[in-house]
Amino acid sequence: MILGIETSCDETAAAVVTWDGEIRSNVVASQAELHARFGGVVPEIASRRHLELVSPVVREALEQAGVALGEVERVAVTQGPGLVGALLVGLAAAKGVAWGWALPLVPVDHLHGHVASLFLQPDPVEPPFLCLLASGGHTLLLDVRGHAAFRVLGATLDDAAGEAFDKGARLLGLGYPGGAAIDRLAREGDAEAFEFPVAAVPGLDFSFSGVKTALLYAVRDLDAAELEARRADLAASYQRAIVRALVERTRAAARRTGAERIAIVGGVAANSALRAALPEAKAAPLALCTDNAAMIASAARYVEPASDPLRLDAYAVA
Ligand SMILES: Nc1ncnc2c1ncn2[C@@H]1O[C@H](COP(=O)(O)OP(=O)(O)OP(=O)(O)O)[C@@H](O)[C@H]1O
Ligand SMILES: [Mg+2]
Repeated sequence: MILGIETSCDETAAAVVTWDGEIRSNVVASQAELHARFGGVVPEIASRRHLELVSPVVREALEQAGVALGEVERVAVTQGPGLVGALLVGLAAAKGVAWGWALPLVPVDHLHGHVASLFLQPDPVEPPFLCLLASGGHTLLLDVRGHAAFRVLGATLDDAAGEAFDKGARLLGLGYPGGAAIDRLAREGDAEAFEFPVAAVPGLDFSFSGVKTALLYAVRDLDAAELEARRADLAASYQRAIVRALVERTRAAARRTGAERIAIVGGVAANSALRAALPEAKAAPLALCTDNAAMIASAARYVEPASDPLRLDAYAVA
């Protein structure tokens, strides 16, 4: 039994996962509503809320799994990348549990965690495969060679895909977080109504700052009534441009590496247009796309425990 704890951004999460990847519980307390009125995550507010939530969320995960702390064999915690203040709350909680129960503590990289969402039951994906990781803070193409071994083939040069969704949603007045809202609204719109650009970046990298600016100009050109009437078309066209960029680069990477399998993970992998546009890809289950602790516990199966756990520190950048 592995107890996972994740507090890198605005979800306080804990989960219990078995060694063969069965999810016994997966509790996620989202703070999204708390941050919505600021239009994004406020780090200090996130840290304070994690502090209030982390103990009850861990307790809830153990209770739902029907597992006592005495039965847990290792504690896994996100060490980074993320908001340092937020990470430190999870790290301190994990140190406390590990120290108190004399358990090994495994530091997990959050991005490794997203990839490890694919290694869970009931339908685990076995490496090697090509992985598109598209989340709120990252957009990466990874050559995944083993359960804890991957090479970066490409990355975004500016905004992450999820960030582009969130900023686009803000321009369209859809609130925060915006990816899911654009996804929903786009179903009612015409994806070819507006021509938004796909950045011509060399190699396997991405760029999403141009498409965001193009949306800004399109919105600026419309008066309030026109914007209201065309909001769904804008959402659908904007989403189409982001999805095209992701799909084209992912397929190019697959050709270049000769990968036989493609997988997609991270919050943006929940996007219905992306999932439809890459039918050959294995997508992480919806509940495991956005931040959760089951993926952190999953990754911890393939990482050595820290030799000096109380000295572990958080890191902000990958
Ligand atoms: N259906 C969807 N369509 C598009 N984007 C979505 C959808 N659902 C969630 N997202 C986006 O996913 C992002 C959140 O994903 P995730 O929780 O993996 O990111 P994060 O943890 O904030 O960033 P990182 O993992 O890079 O640290 C947000 O940007 C959100 O808008
Ligand atoms: Mg994440």
